[in-house]
Amino acid sequence: MAFTIAIDGPAAAGKGTIGRALAARFGFAHLDTGLLYRATGRRMLGGMDAVAAARALRAEDLDAEDLRSPEVALAASRVAAIPEVRQALLDFQRAFARRAGGAVLDGRDIGTVICPEAEVKLFVTASDAERARRRHLELLRAGHAVTLQEVAEDLRQRDARDSARATAPLRPAPDALLLDTSAMTIDEAVAAAAAEVSRVLAARQPAG
Ligand code: CDP
Repeated sequence: MAFTIAIDGPAAAGKGTIGRALAARFGFAHLDTGLLYRATGRRMLGGMDAVAAARALRAEDLDAEDLRSPEVALAASRVAAIPEVRQALLDFQRAFARRAGGAVLDGRDIGTVICPEAEVKLFVTASDAERARRRHLELLRAGHAVTLQEVAEDLRQRDARDSARATAPLRPAPDALLLDTSAMTIDEAVAAAAAEVSRVLAARQPAG
């Protein structure tokens, strides 16, 4: 059975945390599609052509250590605006989305471009200040010496570029459930998302 949960939203809204938790709860595979763009951006920073980098991407590139750094995040949003880069990463994501056994993908264009037929679509947001606060904490814990202001500026730049690009811009699918997690704990956000998945799964069961 193919069953896709598409999670989109701006930077540091909690898509990854919710995606991992849903995958664990429902026994689905999880793909953080941001890592595809981060790995491509990282190679571009190393001097490689972005389109060639996207075409040559391998699974093990997604395990590179420094993919979470702010420099790589910014490079990711630059390469993500190149249509040929997105095209090169499309088939892999589509195949992942429709694999047997269920899949959770988080990103920017999962519900709009990669898998418009997804059974569940969530658009996860939080206020700018809350997203900056969360990402700042995360980066400090991972050993990156960044200020809250720098993080806020990084998110602002990436969201602006991700929303303004011509190809697959960041926006909710018309049928996505909006989840504003500004005032929610992780457990509350996961519970709200899981309730929606359970609702859709239950509606698919044959009656009786
Ligand atoms: O973790 P965070 O939300 O900060 O970012 P990410 O999901 O790792 O994505 C990094 C960058 O990749 C984003 O700013 C987007 O420019 C790009 N991206 C995209 O264009 N499409 C996706 N499906 C996923 C990420």
